[in-house]
Amino acid sequence: MSTRHHPVLLNESVQALRAELGGIFVDATLGGGGHTEKILEAHPDNIVIGIDRDAQAISRAKKRLAKYSDRVIYVHAPFSSIESVVREHTNGKVNGILADLGVSSDQIEDRERGFSFMQDGPLDMRMDSSTQKTSAASLLAEASEDEIEYWLREYGEERFARKIAHAIVKQRRFGQLLRTTQLADLVDRTISRGGAGGRHPATRTFQAFRIAVNRELDEASMLLECAPRLLAENGRLAVISFHSLEDRLVKNSFRNEARSADFVNLYKKGIKPSLDEVNSNIRSRSARLRVLSQESN
Ligand SMILES: C[S@@+](CC[C@H](N)C(=O)[O-])C[C@H]1O[C@@H](n2cnc3c(N)ncnc32)[C@H](O)[C@@H]1O
Repeated sequence: MSTRHHPVLLNESVQALRAELGGIFVDATLGGGGHTEKILEAHPDNIVIGIDRDAQAISRAKKRLAKYSDRVIYVHAPFSSIESVVREHTNGKVNGILADLGVSSDQIEDRERGFSFMQDGPLDMRMDSSTQKTSAASLLAEASEDEIEYWLREYGEERFARKIAHAIVKQRRFGQLLRTTQLADLVDRTISRGGAGGRHPATRTFQAFRIAVNRELDEASMLLECAPRLLAENGRLAVISFHSLEDRLVKNSFRNEARSADFVNLYKKGIKPSLDEVNSNIRSRSARLRVLSQESN
């Protein structure tokens, strides 16, 4: 089981971390291990604490990073627990923290995980099925119409939120939505020709329920709250986001941190992938990297 994920903004993010200076780094979203590998290559003494809430991601990364096994500490946990993870494995401070938010291609392309409206699979969407009890199917079976509408509007920025929520609740009379294609077809029927801007009509719906199932914005907020205070002097926090909701959280958090003399928000507008990268990896098109630098201790 090897990874199919292409790391996004790879050089830009590892340079931002100044990994070539050597140190202890946290990769809060280990995934297929692409960014961690680059950090390990940047200096022979670099150590990476690789966190992922997906056990399959950790197995894949272990395989890829086998030759660096003495310099990687693998942690199967949500990154909201970063503070206790860092405390357990270090003196409490690290030189850099990277978070490459969202899901990996390995997760999206595995139909059994239920993240994709392109392939039929169980409507699951959990990043960690060993600790998360609620799949997308059970969430949608139990939620009220108002809750479903809220997720669609807030997490999917879906302008047909009310219509889709109503259709989902109406559909429940005929049985539970259990498959990805059932949900994708329902959305397609409900808002067809409604102007999804060239994208599949269910794109925003799937994003919304994935964020709700995994409480992604809460997780990101907790990470942003803790991570700056785990940085050693001149340490860097680099965060890559993939949609405007996440990016807004990161932007506001870095702006607030930079009000104190301890931190500098390095690129006010963030860094976007080059045209070459977008052409070779379409998934990178919406990515944005923001970097916070610790300036004194
Ligand atoms: C975009 S991928 C990272 C890819 C990685 N940078 C690479 O180069 O292969 C995001 C990863 O973060 C993990 N993840 C997402 N949210 C998480 C959270 N709250 N806690 C821990 N891991 C999380 C996902 O399981 C996924 O493997």
